[in-house]
Amino acid sequence: MLYTGKGGVGKTSVAAATALKAAKSGKKVLVMSTDPAHSLADAFDTSIGPDPKEMASGLWAQEMDHTTMIEENWSEIQNYMTTLFEWQGSNSLEAEELAMLPGMDELFGLLMVRRHYQSGEYDALIVDAAPTGETLKLLSLPDHMSWYVEKFFPIQRRAAKLVRPFAGRTKSLPPLPDDSVFAAGQKFYEAIASVEEILTNRESSSVRLVVNAEKMVIAEARRAYTYLNLYDYGVDAVVVNRLLPDSVTDPYFAQWREAQARHMSTIETSFAPIPILTARLFDREMFGLEALAALAEDVFEDAEPLEMLFRGASHDIVKNGSGYEVVFYLPLVEKGEVDLSKRGAELLVKVGGYRRNILLPDSLARLSAAGAGIEDNRLTVRLSDDGE
Ligand SMILES: Nc1ncnc2c1ncn2[C@@H]1O[C@H](COP(=O)(O)OP(=O)(O)OP(=O)(O)O)[C@@H](O)[C@H]1O
Ligand SMILES: [Mg+2]
Repeated sequence: MLYTGKGGVGKTSVAAATALKAAKSGKKVLVMSTDPAHSLADAFDTSIGPDPKEMASGLWAQEMDHTTMIEENWSEIQNYMTTLFEWQGSNSLEAEELAMLPGMDELFGLLMVRRHYQSGEYDALIVDAAPTGETLKLLSLPDHMSWYVEKFFPIQRRAAKLVRPFAGRTKSLPPLPDDSVFAAGQKFYEAIASVEEILTNRESSSVRLVVNAEKMVIAEARRAYTYLNLYDYGVDAVVVNRLLPDSVTDPYFAQWREAQARHMSTIETSFAPIPILTARLFDREMFGLEALAALAEDVFEDAEPLEMLFRGASHDIVKNGSGYEVVFYLPLVEKGEVDLSKRGAELLVKVGGYRRNILLPDSLARLSAAGAGIEDNRLTVRLSDDGE
């Protein structure tokens, strides 16, 4: 179960709280962070190392040390990159420096997820992921990598075989990787692909979006949902954290309360039918086991924290001829007048009592909504180029 959301919304706190509640129900749970800015230790108010450490009965936590992971697993790639760097005139590349390349931390975090998943040692893995932008880049990596590997790698490899006898004699060619590097690359790619397979399996994995009832936070979560959907990751809940509790009646917060109510309805129209869980803004920072337990009670109430709360997607995008169709699943919708509007990437649909307001991927933003139809509990909106 992977928690993501905009910076500072409460991902780490909610992830830790989920793990704690699940462990209390008798499961063996590991909560781990793939965010290089580890803050699990702060949430638990204790120290956590690169090896899983028991926080409470059945609850384990881990903050990875990526340098060690690189040294253990990817020394061939590191050696090759070092050679490349040296050829360019730079100094050799230390594991710590490789670990600092963009995206590396999370990448190794995901590989660790796979390792734990395959070991079967824990009943559940809760991942405190980085803010949405990085997490999305990361989760789309297997797709991009398969493109490289299929289109580029075999050719490169053949070229390396042909050119290697001559290389090294001239300074103008970059050093070519030898077979061990290709083997490492292949191993690396297979690992990434299998991480994707684990995380997109809706029987076992899910993403939860953490938001606050604030304009910019919601905008980012909607974008994230669009792309998670596109890459086939399931989202089974949206957690709205830091809602003003009813007991706060001070007029100073009146506008906040009004804005939060308004934003809650945006959240509903953006993510329905995905369940929405809420937690209040507490009167203190939420660290330590007691605070996390209180947060978990607020978020889940009587629900089982690891239960898959929703399967499927709120909508799907499918290619149809030269255009696309957006399919919404509206189980109780009756045939009726469909009110469609589209502004940029935003698509607004009203039919009967339903309102859906989604963001399309950027690549479809230029298309127009050409019509809609309802059949078998599905509302299909056609998107096409103007004039078609
Ligand atoms: N419901 C809440 N009420 C009061 N304080 C909260 C609540 N949820 C989180 N906090 C506090 O807000 C701060 C930020 O929370 P947290 O670190 O969980 O956010 P994050 O999304 O993981 O941030 P980052 O993007 O930096 O990783 C922490 O000090 C935490 O204790
Ligand atoms: Mg965090």
